Amino acid sequence: MSRVTVGSLLEMKERGEKITLLTAYDYPTAKLLDEAGIDILLVGDSLGNVVLGYENTLPVTLEESLHHTRAVARGTNRAMVVGDLPFLYYQTTIAEAVWNAGRYLKEAGAHCVKLEGGRERAEIVHALTETGIPVMAHLGLTPQSVNVFGGYRVQGKTEQAAQHLIEDAMILEEAGAFAVVLECIPTELAKEVTNRLRIPTLSCGAGPHCDGQVMVLHDLLGVSGGKVAKFVKQYANLHDVIIEALTTFKKEVAEGSFPGPEHCYRAKN
Ligand code: KIV
Repeated sequence: MSRVTVGSLLEMKERGEKITLLTAYDYPTAKLLDEAGIDILLVGDSLGNVVLGYENTLPVTLEESLHHTRAVARGTNRAMVVGDLPFLYYQTTIAEAVWNAGRYLKEAGAHCVKLEGGRERAEIVHALTETGIPVMAHLGLTPQSVNVFGGYRVQGKTEQAAQHLIEDAMILEEAGAFAVVLECIPTELAKEVTNRLRIPTLSCGAGPHCDGQVMVLHDLLGVSGGKVAKFVKQYANLHDVIIEALTTFKKEVAEGSFPGPEHCYRAKN
């Protein structure tokens, strides 16, 4: 089984074969996703709100992200592992961006990094690529800019914003990005970007015309039990499955039916 690479993703786009990307934050989950044949595992900075209990992605540190990336990398044989550069670890200077991004490949077993932003990141994308660090770009609703957007809103809705996003995507491709995540933008805009780019586009709430689909794993599996965004499809309701298992365990312990004789050791058989 060969590893998914930048080259194999480009070939998938050329063949019209859809790419799957899910988030992963730990070793056992990474193993499951790898076994299921998911192409790309993103150790997203959604780690902050999904796993670490922060209000948003902004507090995530480089060390936290690297720690979880290491665990995910240990759980994969085939999937490409993407480290997600957290807020303030790449927007400052190119030297800092190269050093921090390089740690994902050097110390954490990732194969590439993701960063948010458009043309203002072109120089950084170029420098990372030249250093040997493949970059996945991220346009549209970029959660690290939530305070600029004033909330989590669909982006690229006006003609001007749509044109700006198309140009950003082309500039990032030219700078060396090997793929681009398009988050929460209108379907027609995502289709236009996908047709214009040679590199794959990955939709996170950007409709069916992209070259691949992205989802936060906990949303797809219905772990949190709360409200999810319109673009999320819940393929399971693990929240209810887990609550049922846990309340049954508690009840059986309380009434003394667990552990049963089959769960107990004896000195002699
Ligand atoms: O951090 C994350 O999980 C992401 C995806 C939603 C694309 O950036």
